[in-house]
Amino acid sequence: MLVSAKEMMTKALAGKYAVGQFNINNLEWTKAILLTAQELQSPVILGVSEGAGKYMTGFKTVAAMVKAMDEELGITVPVALHLDHGTYEGCYKCVKAGFSSIMFDGSHYPFDENLAKSTELVHVADQLGLSIECEVGSIGGEEDGVVGMGECADPDECKTIADLGVTMLAAGIGNIHGKYPANWPGLSFETLAAIKEKVGDMPLVLHGGTGIPDDMIKKAISLGVAKINVNTECQLSFQEATRKYIEEGKDLQGKGFDPRKLLNPGFEAIKAKVKEKMELFGSVGKA
Ligand code: G3H
Ligand code: ZN
Repeated sequence: MLVSAKEMMTKALAGKYAVGQFNINNLEWTKAILLTAQELQSPVILGVSEGAGKYMTGFKTVAAMVKAMDEELGITVPVALHLDHGTYEGCYKCVKAGFSSIMFDGSHYPFDENLAKSTELVHVADQLGLSIECEVGSIGGEEDGVVGMGECADPDECKTIADLGVTMLAAGIGNIHGKYPANWPGLSFETLAAIKEKVGDMPLVLHGGTGIPDDMIKKAISLGVAKINVNTECQLSFQEATRKYIEEGKDLQGKGFDPRKLLNPGFEAIKAKVKEKMELFGSVGKA
């Protein structure tokens, strides 16, 4: 059931759990995530970066695929189709394509420009009943060409953006896209608590969910994080399972070269990873 992320965010914040956003790249990724969400009766957010949208030939193709798959698989749990780290132009494209949720990442702009563009896009999303995520303080590392400096967000700026009426707010708290370096000092819970203090009941988003230790995830949820984004970990699981299948020579046995067989271990690995995360985030049975 394709919906905006509004209700799932309100419920997650009240219930002290987080909804996972898992990024999609193709049909297998999408199907694995939708089936897992349905099996576990968990709400879910499908994240689409601009790069992945382009890879899948465009946002219209993505929206058509997700809507048809949702219907043909008989998915009854709430599913939001969400633009991840969107540009200003990308947000409009996704609105037109039929996404149910958008993220405007204006964190690289001077704050006034981020504020002006966020204000406009919050208004657009509101008019159309879509959910919208905005970002303050950049997430470190690189994801699909989006590079962040990784500075912690200013709690006052967070409040200004939250007050626009965004559905959920992404705030940098020392989190990084991709694998965390060995000398990573961990999430800044001091920053998170200061932001929470300012924004009150605003659901917060934790990007860079890959490789954050479980205890930090749980603490972040207890401090107001209601959405956690995971991308790289699913990619790594897919890659490991596919590599194993090929290295064991299974692609050379029988009809093992059939693309449907070749992609299956990766598909199952994504399902297992998404299940693990939904259990950790506490969203199982919350549909
Ligand atoms: O926007 C998506 C994420 O923040 C994913 O981060 O690739 O480190 O899991 P990750
Ligand atoms: Zn991110």
